[in-house]
Amino acid sequence: MFDLKAIVRPNILGLQPYRCARDDFKTGILLDANENTHGPSLSSVGAEEQKLELNRYPDPHQIELKQQIVDFRNAKPNLAASGSLLTPENLCLGVGSDESIDMLLRCVCTPGKDKLLICPPTYGMYGICATVNDVELVKVPLLTPSFDVDVDAVAKQVKSDSTIKLIYLTSPGNPTGKLLDVKDVIRLLEIEWNGLVVIDEAYVDFTFLESDTHSPSVSTLVNQYPNLVVLQTLSKSFGLAGIRLGITFSSSELSYYLNSMKYPYNISSLTSNVALKATNANDGLKVMYSNVARIIEQRGILLDSLSALKYVGKNLGGLDSNFILIEILDKAGNPSNEVAKKLYETLAVSNGVVVRFRGTELNCTGGLRISVGTAEENKALVAKFEKCLNEINK
Ligand SMILES: Cc1ncc(COP(=O)(O)O)c(C=O)c1O
Repeated sequence: MFDLKAIVRPNILGLQPYRCARDDFKTGILLDANENTHGPSLSSVGAEEQKLELNRYPDPHQIELKQQIVDFRNAKPNLAASGSLLTPENLCLGVGSDESIDMLLRCVCTPGKDKLLICPPTYGMYGICATVNDVELVKVPLLTPSFDVDVDAVAKQVKSDSTIKLIYLTSPGNPTGKLLDVKDVIRLLEIEWNGLVVIDEAYVDFTFLESDTHSPSVSTLVNQYPNLVVLQTLSKSFGLAGIRLGITFSSSELSYYLNSMKYPYNISSLTSNVALKATNANDGLKVMYSNVARIIEQRGILLDSLSALKYVGKNLGGLDSNFILIEILDKAGNPSNEVAKKLYETLAVSNGVVVRFRGTELNCTGGLRISVGTAEENKALVAKFEKCLNEINK
C-alpha cells in the first residue's frame, strides 16, 4: 500500500507554508506587502500592463489558471481514467517543468542518502538536478530498439533498493520521441514499492488532435494512482517557452506539500496573463491545436524528405513529438557519430542551421535530433543537409 507520508522528507511534512500578505485582506489601501504604490518604473504603462498591476506581487495560488488547465485535460481523459478527474488541488505551477523536476527531488529525496531512477536515453536535466541535490542516479536503460520502458528491470531495481524514491520517465521521450504504452505506465504504478513514478509529458500534445475524444496523457489518472506524478509545460505545444510555465499534476495530498514548498510568487503576473489566454478554450487552445496539427503534418514531410537522402538511416525513435531523431551513416552505411558530429557542426557554423547532436546518448549512435520547423525552415534544412552530408561522405 503506497504511503506518501513515508517518503516525503520530514522537514517538508512539517513545513508551515509562507503566509502571503494578501492571504488575509485583498482590498482597501494596501500597504501590507512593502510594494511600491507609486507604480512601476516604466516611462509609459500600456493598458494591459496597467490592468496587471505590476507593482503588486502576483497571485500565489493561480486558481483561475489551474481551473482552465484542468478543464483542458479533463475534456480529453486518458482511456484508462475511471476515477475522479482533475481539480485545481491536483496542480502545482512552476517556472517551467525544470522547476518541478527539482522540486520533487527536494520533496522526497534526502541528499546523500536517497536515489532517483532514470531510463536512458532521457532528458539531461534529471541528472543535473539529481547531482545538484546530491541524489544518486540509478540507470535502467530503455529497451532497444523500441525505446519502451523495461518494466521488469525497473521493478527488480526498485524492489531491491529502498533508497530509490523516484522514477523519472519521459513520455513521449526526449530524445526518443516515443510515447510510452499506458499499460507499461500502469504496471510501473502497480509495483510493490514505496516511491513516486513521475511521467514527464512535455511533448504529449503532439500525440493527438483536437477532434480526438481521449488523449494519451496520463495526467487524468493522478486521483486513481496516488504514486503518479505528471509533468507538463507550455514550452512545447503552446509555443511559450519564454514565459516559463510548468505544471505538476499529482494527488491533492502531494500537491499540498509541493505548493507549500514553492516560492510563493514563482508565477509572474506577465506569465499567468499569457498562460490564461493560451489555455482558454475559446482563444489560445484553438491556436495550439492548429499549430500542433501543422507540426504533425510537417514532421511526416520532414522525415520523408530526410529519409530519401543518401547516408540518412532510420528514425531512431518514435514519431510522437515535435522532433525526429535521425540516424546519420558513413560511406559504408554504418551509423556514425563522427559523420553526425561533423554534419551538425557544418550545418551550424557555415549554413546557419542548428540541430542537436545526440549520438553519444545511450543507443543513439549517429543520432541527430531535429525539431520540426515551419515548411520553409524544413525545406531549407533538407537542402543544406543533403549538400553538407554528401560533402562530408565524399
Ligand atoms: C522532457 C523534457 N522535460 C522538460 C523540459 C523543460 O521544459 P520547461 O521549458 O517547461 O522547463 C524539456 C525541454 O526540452 C524536455 O525535453
